[in-house]
Amino acid sequence: KKDLLILAIESSCDETAAAVVKNGREVLSNVISSQIALHTLYGGVVPEIASRKHIEKINQVIEAALDEAKVTLDDIDAIGVTYGPGLVGALLVGVAEAKAIAYAARKPLIGVHHIEGHIAANFIEHKELEPPFLCLVVSGGHTHLVCVKDYGEFEILGRTRDDAAGEAFDKVARAIGLGYPGGPKIDKVSKEGNPDAIEFPRAHMGDTPYDFSFSGVKSAVLNYLNGCKMKGETWNQADVAASFQKAVTDVLVANSMQAVKEYGLRKFAIAGGVASNSALRSAMKEACEKNDIDFYYPSPIFCTDNAAMIGVAAYYEYLKGTRHGWDLNAVPNLKL
Ligand code: KG4
Ligand code: ZN
Repeated sequence: KKDLLILAIESSCDETAAAVVKNGREVLSNVISSQIALHTLYGGVVPEIASRKHIEKINQVIEAALDEAKVTLDDIDAIGVTYGPGLVGALLVGVAEAKAIAYAARKPLIGVHHIEGHIAANFIEHKELEPPFLCLVVSGGHTHLVCVKDYGEFEILGRTRDDAAGEAFDKVARAIGLGYPGGPKIDKVSKEGNPDAIEFPRAHMGDTPYDFSFSGVKSAVLNYLNGCKMKGETWNQADVAASFQKAVTDVLVANSMQAVKEYGLRKFAIAGGVASNSALRSAMKEACEKNDIDFYYPSPIFCTDNAAMIGVAAYYEYLKGTRHGWDLNAVPNLKL
């Protein structure tokens, strides 16, 4: 049986990425051009700057991905691309590029949902992992508890009502003087702090037990800092970071374990940028061990936005027969 090669493109936010994936599970190349340094100047992602940078980088990144995989466009069987959700101008660059390549090289075009990609990142290093399983997707834009019923078939059990988990990390990091991007910095300084130093609230939604809310804990941190300022007291950056991180991970773990039990699934995965968080990984690992559930998580390079995960998702969409036409458009609020 012939190998099936997908060239995948991802440009939904601030990473310009391309990858070549073989038979859905083997990453032949995974090239990422990060714009973090550029956006750090502004304390966050500036959409217009992101789009312009994608245009500047995308051809180089695709060429590098083909080179690294030691293939040419002729060897590629289909083009996969993220078409939503994300920043509309950023998405458009990838979608236009994918359409142009697919049209010129006469290859099938497959639009991929960004979250489907994050979930699919788990298939790369866990060759034995197959649906059904439960997946917690935690990134800068999303916090979703998803039942992966089959390849490309999802049921959303819960989502955030306000801030995404990564967004809360980024906002709190800014408030305690750590800067952008906040998640990795909070993760690092928390190792020096006491997670039980300050009791920040854990929001549990009574009526919809799998939903999340992170604006409360974020406000509680801001109130705590203001309170210290008013009283002329100093606060400990590492303790605030560690206590905030613990409040967030406690809720993520509690909701996930409740869902795993209720759905009777023995497999649980995490995905998205925040899935790199060391405290979240170890708390989830412990909870899964306690509940006798197999726990899966991608390496950090496959947690952050990348095109390899899009290639994996595109492969399973390809097998299902998904093909998009030349009218494929960027959909900033695409539903899963
Ligand atoms: O998946 P991703 O790269 O982009 C989106 O699709 O949003 O996620 C980026 C988010 C940012 O909010 C970043 O602060 C957060 O993931 N993040 C982390 C860590 N690494 C990245 N949050 C907590 N701990 C980390 N180690
Ligand atoms: Zn993402």
